[in-house]
Amino acid sequence: MVDQADKLRKMVAKKSKKNYRAIAVTSGKGGVGKTNIVVNVAYLLSSIGKKVVVFDADLGLANVDILLGLKSKYSLIDIIKNGKKMKEIMIDYDKSFKIIPAGSGIEEIANINEPVFSKIQNELNDVIKDTDVLLIDTGAGISNKVTYFLKSSDEIIVVATPEPTSIADAYAMIKIMVTNYKKENIKIFINMAKNEAEAETIYKNLNKICRQFLKKEFKNIGYALIDKNLPASVKQQKVLSKINKNSNFTVAMKKLINNLFKENIKVYDNPIAKFFASIFGG
Ligand SMILES: Nc1ncnc2c1ncn2[C@@H]1O[C@H](COP(=O)(O)OP(=O)(O)O)[C@@H](O)[C@H]1O
Ligand SMILES: [Mg+2]
Repeated sequence: MVDQADKLRKMVAKKSKKNYRAIAVTSGKGGVGKTNIVVNVAYLLSSIGKKVVVFDADLGLANVDILLGLKSKYSLIDIIKNGKKMKEIMIDYDKSFKIIPAGSGIEEIANINEPVFSKIQNELNDVIKDTDVLLIDTGAGISNKVTYFLKSSDEIIVVATPEPTSIADAYAMIKIMVTNYKKENIKIFINMAKNEAEAETIYKNLNKICRQFLKKEFKNIGYALIDKNLPASVKQQKVLSKINKNSNFTVAMKKLINNLFKENIKVYDNPIAKFFASIFGG
């Protein structure tokens, strides 16, 4: 498994454009907001002209397409079982935001083993040539299905929430990535915090455990507070960043992008800043 993933990473690096990035979003525990982060970051990146592909790699609970209100005719299952090409199964949210759907129940239908990963990686390689950012929405927890995709990514964002179980599981995930797979480029994102202070404390605690036991520290790539508009947008199958540009979660995703890309998406924390920016052209 290590070999296959390593091969993929090298192939991806060689074939891709200079600025191409593969970023996996993962967590120890489920339900921490990975899919929502991926979908909103993808939307915002595409809105500034990046070509984005979201790879739904949650083979247990694939739901990127559902969150976007899209129906996928085909999925990864068709690549594995029916010899379809990646380009045939991909669906468009819009011209520069495409989705690779995993399909539901893929684990029951297909035996996810090395030859299957190999097939997926060859197909993926074809797609990334025209892509600026590949965002990989992995499942939660440490299974070979999750770790395979993480091993193949240049960058990993681990999402944790203030729940103690989520923090413990995030650490377990980081530990595996560091000790077993020698991953360095890991960043931490705190989601669903009550306030900024809580997010900061959670990050510091998690990083402290990493420093103590792994002798490594990881950057905080951002945080998002509880935003009641997010579950509401999920119910509507709409992307929050599209329908509510000033919602807390939207602003948090813009900051995450700024941190990740040092890209100039304008972020205004409050109307005053926006007002001054409009006057002074900030
Ligand atoms: N910052 C947030 N504020 C409020 N609800 C959130 C937030 N982040 C995620 N959620 C909610 O948590 C649930 C799980 O999110 P999801 O993205 O599906 O998690 P995962 O992909 O990690 O399983 C969703 O119903 C979503 O609306
Ligand atoms: Mg998910």
